[in-house]
Amino acid sequence: MSVGGPVGRGERWHSVWTDRDDDRADWNGFEACFESADAYADWTKWIASTIVRELGITRRDHVVDLGCGTGRIASLVADDAGRVTALDYSETVLRIAQERRPRDNISYRHADLNTFDVAALGADKAYAVGSLLYLDSLAVVLRLITTFVRDGGGFAAMDLPDVTIRDDMPRAYDTSTYTHLAFDVNTLTEHFPEGRVVRYDTMKYAHADRRFNFVITAATKPDAASHDRQG
Ligand SMILES: C[S@@+](CC[C@H](N)C(=O)[O-])C[C@H]1O[C@@H](n2cnc3c(N)ncnc32)[C@H](O)[C@@H]1O
Repeated sequence: MSVGGPVGRGERWHSVWTDRDDDRADWNGFEACFESADAYADWTKWIASTIVRELGITRRDHVVDLGCGTGRIASLVADDAGRVTALDYSETVLRIAQERRPRDNISYRHADLNTFDVAALGADKAYAVGSLLYLDSLAVVLRLITTFVRDGGGFAAMDLPDVTIRDDMPRAYDTSTYTHLAFDVNTLTEHFPEGRVVRYDTMKYAHADRRFNFVITAATKPDAASHDRQG
């Protein structure tokens, strides 16, 4: 946090994700959405299996988790991927991820998604669970998605709040007003016509009707297709 000057939106959010104790941090902000830790764990399984299925993730893939939190989703996706690079800008959640969910094929790395050059990672599949709404602008989000999909890669933007979820929603853990980005399907489809919405189905989840997932499936690479045919 800066000392003395006004605190900007970005700094506020950074402190929300950093200044918390380990057990609360491990809820990744979803504590108000579920009745129990088991229900939360079930949801992470649904999210991870949806990402793996929709992006067609296999052992050949290097996948990027954008805003990985404490690694709950990354550690599940890593069961199917070759390699996962999991990025976050909170030192707190990265430490917990490394302590509680270390995996040989996950690399947890510090990065601010507003400025980090994700193209340099050389991965062609990425996902973000509940993190894009905290970025500086919709333009940053669109640029991130474009980086992965412009050459036929895949992207899963999971748990996007739609425009009916108010920005000044009171939060149990803080009385400050925090604003987050809201998303609408039309804008996303305008930019990414190949994308489609995947809705929650059986998941018990607060505001499930007002949050959605937007998925752009990777194009099949000729070499991958021929590899598959050869079995
Ligand atoms: C709601 S949590 C979700 C965490 C994780 N994806 C999950 O589902 O368990 C949002 C995460 O996004 C991260 N985040 C928000 N803004 C970010 C930014 N600009 N750069 C990197 N990470 C960011 C936060 O630190 C936090 O860990």
